Amino acid sequence: MADLRTDVVGARPFVYRKKRLGCGAVGLTELAEEFGTPLYVYSADQIRYRFGLFQAAFAGRAHTICYAVKANSSLAILRLLGEAGAGFDIVSGGELERVRRASKAALKRVVFSGVGKQVWEIDAALKAGILLFNVESEAELSVLAERAEEMGVRARFALRVNPDVFAETHPYISTGLREHKFGIAIGEARAIYKKAKRMKWLDAAGVSVHIGSQIRMVEPFGAALERVLGLVGELRTDGHDIRYVDAGGGLGIDYGASDASDGEGVTAEEQVRRYAAALEGALGGEGARLLLEPGRFLVAQAGALVSRVLVVKKNGAKTFVITDAGMNDLIRPSLYQAHHEIVPVTQGAGEDAVVDVVGPVCESGDFFARDRSMGRVKAGDLLAVLDAGAYGMSLSSNYNTRGRAAEVLVDGDSYGLVRRRESLKEMLGAEILA
Ligand code: LLP
Repeated sequence: MADLRTDVVGARPFVYRKKRLGCGAVGLTELAEEFGTPLYVYSADQIRYRFGLFQAAFAGRAHTICYAVKANSSLAILRLLGEAGAGFDIVSGGELERVRRASKAALKRVVFSGVGKQVWEIDAALKAGILLFNVESEAELSVLAERAEEMGVRARFALRVNPDVFAETHPYISTGLREHKFGIAIGEARAIYKKAKRMKWLDAAGVSVHIGSQIRMVEPFGAALERVLGLVGELRTDGHDIRYVDAGGGLGIDYGASDASDGEGVTAEEQVRRYAAALEGALGGEGARLLLEPGRFLVAQAGALVSRVLVVKKNGAKTFVITDAGMNDLIRPSLYQAHHEIVPVTQGAGEDAVVDVVGPVCESGDFFARDRSMGRVKAGDLLAVLDAGAYGMSLSSNYNTRGRAAEVLVDGDSYGLVRRRESLKEMLGAEILA
């Protein structure tokens, strides 16, 4: 495999120096020795850089970038984004609490999405004074009105509309079609806004849309937003004071072997520019504040999952590289057949071999790569699964009673543990034996 880029402004901050992989200047071997494996390692510089790309691309209009917390909800990452001026897109009371702990000042820049909100979660968000509720059904709107009245505060809301735009991505993460559970059909939205106008505890402040995740073409974003703006025009005619247009998240990245691109051979910078151009084309002279909810694009390539090879085993014609990380640490390959590049932490001289890289979990679906050609590895070697910063740790579990991995944040030349490895005590602590 070719050397990865040697700076943090490219697609990945993980680079070889003298055949050893580092996160910038910090060696992964040293981190693995100090903190053990499996270990998630993130680059703060890369996250800031990517956030800055969004800020720059939309500098010409009032906007707030509400990082989608679900992609990676590490408090340390939330804090660094909060300090950079980010707002947050949350989907639970738990994520709200994370924002509160990481960046209290950012609470007023929070949008609350999600197709099933509980009363306590709505109450907590009202109390926190968040920016906007993205409401996904008429029933939810009634509950929001009730809770707002009970608490004596007006709730700003946007309906999340479903524009019926097709975005080519994995079926599990596509959301913008009529058949999906998300949003309200765009044709039905106007009537619901009309009803809401009669409820004094509701403030119809915006319209929101989110068409799916890992979308590599920018055209569907423009098409969806155009439909949303058509609705915004109608709503203004009806007397609603629409101040926010939320275009959701979903911009995809390149999980492939190329080392500097985020899609079809373009750089991260160019990809954000294209995305912005697609949105700007739809927005034109629209004066509402633009809200964006990127998750993956900001954090995926900033992270790697470092694991140690436990055994190399031959079964018939196949060679299995069994690592100490498993599907409970990173489920994307198992769940979406997602491709992640896997590279040795120390580059060897050996011939490439075709192997399956798998975890120790008792499931045949516990794999990171199948029939992958890579340099020979042996027990004790370290591997890095790349582009693991998004939907890695946040989707991890205790399956097989395995504690969750530790996490390290590298910032320039320094680094620190931002989450301890989960202990057996913590894992079993909530259980009750009579
Ligand atoms: N806004 C809403 C309302 C969302 O549902 C999502 C993601 C985002 C923003 C952020 O999307 P992003 O920019 O990260 O694409 N676990 C899957 C991805 C699930 C995405 C769920 N919603 C994966 O690993 O590919």
